[in-house]
Amino acid sequence: MTTETATAAAGSKAAGKGKRKYVVGTRRQLDAAELAATGLRDRWYPIYPSRFVGTGDMVKVKRLGVDWLLFRDATGQIRMLEDRCPHRSAPLSVGQHLGDRVACKYHGVQVDGQGTVVSVPGMPGCALEGRTVTASLAVAEGADTIFAFVPLTEDSEVTGFKLPDRLDNPEISWFSNYAEWISPWRYYMDNVLDPMHGAFLHRDSHSMFGGDTSARFRIRETDRGFFFEKTDQRGKNFDWVEFCRESMDYVDLEIPYAESAGPGGSFGIVGMSTPIDENTSAVFHWRTRTVSDWERDVWRFMYKATLEEKHWAVLEQDRELLEALAADADRGEHLYQHDLGVARIRRVHEADAQKQAAILLDGSA
Ligand code: FES
Ligand SMILES: [Fe+2]
Repeated sequence: MTTETATAAAGSKAAGKGKRKYVVGTRRQLDAAELAATGLRDRWYPIYPSRFVGTGDMVKVKRLGVDWLLFRDATGQIRMLEDRCPHRSAPLSVGQHLGDRVACKYHGVQVDGQGTVVSVPGMPGCALEGRTVTASLAVAEGADTIFAFVPLTEDSEVTGFKLPDRLDNPEISWFSNYAEWISPWRYYMDNVLDPMHGAFLHRDSHSMFGGDTSARFRIRETDRGFFFEKTDQRGKNFDWVEFCRESMDYVDLEIPYAESAGPGGSFGIVGMSTPIDENTSAVFHWRTRTVSDWERDVWRFMYKATLEEKHWAVLEQDRELLEALAADADRGEHLYQHDLGVARIRRVHEADAQKQAAILLDGSA
């Protein structure tokens, strides 16, 4: 795993308490509803699979409503800049990769991986040279994924990066999976905090056919978040999920496997969703099993031979359902006891959005 720390530029109208602040990459304030819709800041997010950005590549991605450029420099280090030239805002992603910097296609201004202008070829010695005026994010790579700390304002402090335990344990073998869904990220969170859908939506799947179709749930606090779990069934279906709040928010869950699925017992999942914009999401899953030696080889062979396709089919059931939900599907619902987890995660995110909106308004952290 590699980590690179950078500072965010081009985010604040003015620094200091009592001054209004802009959200990094937006040049404006966002209210609580906009923050909730496009994504809460001041946390690490998975951005894109590492394998999709080779050395010398420049890739444009939209995340949290902002266009970003990912480029891997000549040393292999990933860089993440706002995809906007500091001169007149042309997308840097259509420019040229110069090893440790990129050159804008429009007038040739060169920006390095920290967002500093290193050359203005049309006017050497121009005052823009040497200034760090393009937003660049702190990035880290691990579990075949590029992660970035997405700051609220340019004064935000980058927090430490830590992979979820299940992805940072040599006894656990994982496969990563990436998808983009035309569905707001909040629907993803609601869906994963709703284990009961496993017994219905995924009833015909290879792994979620067992157990009762009725249950009672409870919330149990943990030192990193909370469990939402069935009180009367475990080890038969999608019976529990843990919402974890560490350097990033993620869910951790297990689904039992039949013996025919090979060694390693239950199948673990780490899930995360990163808003692309208010209507679309980048969805990251890691499918895991606790296996070593020959069992690891069997799991990795079976996953590629048969299980991956089955997992895709299950994920497609989620995607199709969530993409079919109306834009106001979470208004005027009639929730019942199974929806305690959904209600809880919504409260967590609503509180975060209000807090971040207040920081933007009064400038106090
Ligand atoms: S807009 Fe990029 S160099 Fe002018
Ligand atoms: Fe599901």
